[in-house]
Amino acid sequence: MLVTDVKGLLMKAKENHYAIPSYNFWDLDSARAHCSVAAREHKPIFLSYAEVHRTALAIEEAAAIGKLMAERYDAPIVLHLDHGQDLDFVYKAMDLGFTSIMIDASMKDFDENVAITRGVALDAHKKGIQVEAEIGHVGSNVISDDSSLYTQPEEAARFVEMSGCDSLAVSIGTSHGAYKTGTPKINFDVLHALRAALPNTPLVLHGGSGSGDENLKRCAREGIAKLNIYTDLSVGGLEAIRACASDDYLVVKKAYSEGIEKVVAKYFDVFETQSV
Ligand code: 13P
Ligand code: ZN
Repeated sequence: MLVTDVKGLLMKAKENHYAIPSYNFWDLDSARAHCSVAAREHKPIFLSYAEVHRTALAIEEAAAIGKLMAERYDAPIVLHLDHGQDLDFVYKAMDLGFTSIMIDASMKDFDENVAITRGVALDAHKKGIQVEAEIGHVGSNVISDDSSLYTQPEEAARFVEMSGCDSLAVSIGTSHGAYKTGTPKINFDVLHALRAALPNTPLVLHGGSGSGDENLKRCAREGIAKLNIYTDLSVGGLEAIRACASDDYLVVKKAYSEGIEKVVAKYFDVFETQSV
């Protein structure tokens, strides 16, 4: 079923020290893989469609797939727009029935990020849509312990107060995509300080893939309520295709779905996601 009280779902995860996975989908098979495992395990998910995937899958297609999955699978499913940057696109998602959106103005300066997020949050809240914003920046493919990239707890608290967002994506050491070398060092001190500064705001972590299962388990236990995974899902699907020796397309397609499903099931375990 489609979750409408998204903030309530996130607060439950926060209070009970587990994380809800946000799994990106880019086609019907990936969406079906995510939702079938969620239904089998009776666990909630964010079924997330990223603006950068708009050329692979149109937003109208994503909305139709998301709503169909939520009708078909007996699991709490949040239809979420991931990394919305183009305001027209964000408003389109709201019109098409997404129950949660991320407005990502994290590359702007503080005041502009507040102004953009505030405008979107005011409109989204009229429709009961949950709003995630980001402060600090989660980059791509690099391991860095440059503390200037971390989200500053006091600034984060001011940001939430001024922008009216419901949940907040924070930077504590992860990065999007595959890391070129090793696993990142997560700054748990910063996470604890953020948790203390924002007792009523669920925290979100992007760039989960390849970040180390023990790291991610700790993040879920110690303050992250939503954890985003994309790259490992697509790699899981691709590796299954490579390992499948068949020249029957439908056999390959099935292997691809099963490869994605394995990753979905694994991260439910790592995040200790509870049934709701
Ligand atoms: P990864 O591809 O590193 O898992 O990041 C996913 C993400 O943050 C989607 O918003
Ligand atoms: Zn992300």
